[in-house]
Order: sequence, then structure tokens, then C-alpha cells
Amino acid sequence: MALIVLAADKGAPGVTTAATALGAVWPRSVLLAECDPAGGDLAYRLPAQDGGVLNPGRGLLTLGATARRGLRPEQIHEHTQQIVGGLDVLAGLTHGEQAAGLTWLWGPLGRAFAALPGADVLADCGRLGGHPEMGELVSEAALVVLFTRASLDHVAHLRERLQVLPSSVQVAVVVIADPRQYRTTIDEVRRIVMATGRQVAFVTGIAHDPKGAELLRGQWGGRLDRSLLIRTARELAGRLAAQIRAPEHAL
Ligand SMILES: Nc1ncnc2c1ncn2[C@@H]1O[C@H](COP(=O)(O)OP(=O)(O)OP(=O)(O)O)[C@@H](O)[C@H]1O
Ligand SMILES: [Mg+2]
Repeated sequence: MALIVLAADKGAPGVTTAATALGAVWPRSVLLAECDPAGGDLAYRLPAQDGGVLNPGRGLLTLGATARRGLRPEQIHEHTQQIVGGLDVLAGLTHGEQAAGLTWLWGPLGRAFAALPGADVLADCGRLGGHPEMGELVSEAALVVLFTRASLDHVAHLRERLQVLPSSVQVAVVVIADPRQYRTTIDEVRRIVMATGRQVAFVTGIAHDPKGAELLRGQWGGRLDRSLLIRTARELAGRLAAQIRAPEHAL
């Protein structure tokens, strides 16, 4: 179905946390793929569906080893696992050095994700910029979601990133925003994004919610479901899924 790239320019605004929250509430079947060249985090954050630990040795690295001979979308599920809650994940690299040998993988992987039968793919690509070959995966995305905090330095880097992303790529911006100034913060970032002249599908938010973020590093439960993070993630997931089906007019 569709490939949605989740990424940031610089800093660690909360891409992996948002990716996990979105995966948990996505309105259709979905695969959460950890494609951050700096390495994955999920195996260390969340238990497997059976209560054990995720196997960090099964995922992107094993997929890369077999994909050298060609990669068909149907092969991807041979390398996925389920985390608590039943979400399918492709576990990421265990350290950044592994990415050096996988630069050839991003293009074929992007094409396979975009053609995956029966499920959308949320690809956590971490920070864009350091790995130019990642552009080959990004260009396969139906939508690239750039996450930012509202601070000046984060927004300045976001602005630069918007200028260098190819205009053929459809982009949405998500601000990790303090719930007390949620609307004003998002409006302010939207104003800055619009001033760049870059077409963006929309600028929206997800709550800055330290307690919710902590729960996403442990066992999922009822309290998490009621957290502001999950509630705003649900709104965001609906908007992203709708955007893929019927693109809104760009800002
Ligand atoms: N919505 C949020 N509200 C509060 N804290 C958050 C939120 N998202 C992330 N955090 C916290 O910020 C830190 C970084 O989060 P996360 O790992 O999701 O960021 P990232 O952008 O994926 O970083 P990296 O580039 O290192 O992979 C973590 O301590 C996490 O708990
Ligand atoms: Mg991350």
C-alpha cells in the first residue's frame, strides 16, 4: 500500500516515539519499519508480543543480507516481528556502522515498501541529511512527515530541510507541541513554513507529553490509551491516512 516516511532534520525531536504511537493507532494494517541509519531503538524499548524481548538480530540487517540477490515485497515479512499490542515491526540496525554497508539497500527497500501488499509502511528514517542514499527511499514515499520541536533552532533546521527536499515529494510537518500552547505553537510554525514558499500538505501537531512518551518505552496499557500523546497521535494518524487517499490542497 503506501509508504510514509517519518523523519527530522536535526536533534531528536521524538520521531521514534511518534512513529510508535502512530503505529499503535494506525487506522489500517501497518508495518513500522526502523530505517534510521543511526540504528533502531524499538528492541530496547518495547517487549515482543509474547512478553519476551524483540530479537535485534532479525530485521533490517537480515533483510539486507538476503536482499542483495533482489528484493520482493513479499520477502519483507520474513524479517518482521510483533511488539506488544500486535504491531508488526521491522527492527532496525543495532549500530550506525552497519549502515555503511547498506547504502545500496535504501532504493530497493523504498520500492518494496511502496509495493507491500495489504499494509501501509511507516518508515522511521531518523535524521535526514547524513546519508544521501536515503533520498532514494524518501523519493518512493507517498508522504514525508517532518517532525520538529517548536524551538528556534529546530524550526530553522526544518526550514532548511524543506528547501532541499525534492519538490516531487509530498511533505507534511508535525510539531511536537506543549499542550498548554498547542494551537499557537502550531500556527507559529505554520507561518514560518509558509514563508519558505515550499508547498506543504499541512502543518499539524502531536502533544509533548513526557508521561505518554515514557509509557511508550514500557508496557502498553489502558493509561497509555488515554494519554494526550496517543489521543493526538490518533488525530494525526487519521489525517495522514486521509492525505494519502485524497491529497488536500497544499499550503
Ligand atoms: N511527544 C513527546 N513528548 C514528550 N517527550 C517526548 C516525546 N517524544 C519523544 N520524547 C522524548 O524525547 C526523547 C527522544 O525521543 P525519540 O527517541 O522518540 O526521538 P528521535 O527523534 O527518534 O531521536 P533519534 O534521532 O535519536 O532517533 C526521549 O527521551 C523521549 O521520551
Ligand atoms: Mg529515533
